[in-house]
Amino acid sequence: MDRLKGKVGVITGGSSGIGLATAEKFIAQGAVAVSADLNPAANSAVDFVKTDVTNADSLQAMVETVVKKYGKIDILVANAGVAEEKAPVAELNVDNWNKVINIDLTGVVLTNKFVVAQMVKQGSGSVINMSSILGVVGGPKSQAYSAAKAGVANYTKSQAITYATSGIRFNAIAPGYVATPLLKTLPKDVTDGMVSKMPIGRLAQPEEIANVIAFVASDEASFVVGSLINVDGGYTAQ
Ligand SMILES: NC(=O)c1ccc[n+]([C@@H]2O[C@H](COP(=O)([O-])OP(=O)(O)OC[C@H]3O[C@@H](n4cnc5c(N)ncnc54)[C@H](O)[C@@H]3O)[C@@H](O)[C@H]2O)c1
Repeated sequence: MDRLKGKVGVITGGSSGIGLATAEKFIAQGAVAVSADLNPAANSAVDFVKTDVTNADSLQAMVETVVKKYGKIDILVANAGVAEEKAPVAELNVDNWNKVINIDLTGVVLTNKFVVAQMVKQGSGSVINMSSILGVVGGPKSQAYSAAKAGVANYTKSQAITYATSGIRFNAIAPGYVATPLLKTLPKDVTDGMVSKMPIGRLAQPEEIANVIAFVASDEASFVVGSLINVDGGYTAQ
């Protein structure tokens, strides 16, 4: 299927998990996919520009590199993210709070800043920011991650309104639990309980989230603006 034919997509964190599956889906649907990540993807078909989403200079250089090579950026998936150290707030590790907020919330906004400036010049674009089920419902011992992901969701709605008549669409995706390397960074007692919370009875595969991102990124989704799209196997329906 050529749903994304001729499009140029930038995916932060595009070298692993959901981001890599999204990059591969974009290529399968006719787009160029650039992973803006700290590390390259194992798949050489995915272009790579070394990028740190917490660093403004790095993001600006990434946009310049992509535009020089491909002439434009049609799609941004601001997906780079990390997990947190789970703890009740009375035992909060403030350094970890700052790190997670910096990558998962500020990193999304900063990436938007530089890529959307390019989209404004073009008069078009589709921005998809990565939220999470934990930005929608409460999870035990979650602080920075929940705050960051809820922040991404509402920030995205604000920008969707701001840019609604500009040709640039903003949406956010809230996956349930997805089988990616990120889950391996969580303690066993957290991952053990995950499947039981999913009405569908299993974790999502990264490709299932990528399918939705590719559709929302496409021109077929032209009326999808300012949505927080739950891709969670029924979690939030409970
Ligand atoms: N896996 C899940 O269950 C799940 C559920 C909901 C939301 N999410 C979100 O989806 C996104 C992708 O997660 P994943 O599960 O695929 O994780 P992952 O660990 O497989 O991939 C994350 C990628 O982000 C990159 N990254 C981290 N810090 C970066 C930085 N400062 N600059 C650039 N790149 C950086 C990593 O190098 C990695 O390639 C994250 O935002 C995560 O919070 C994941």
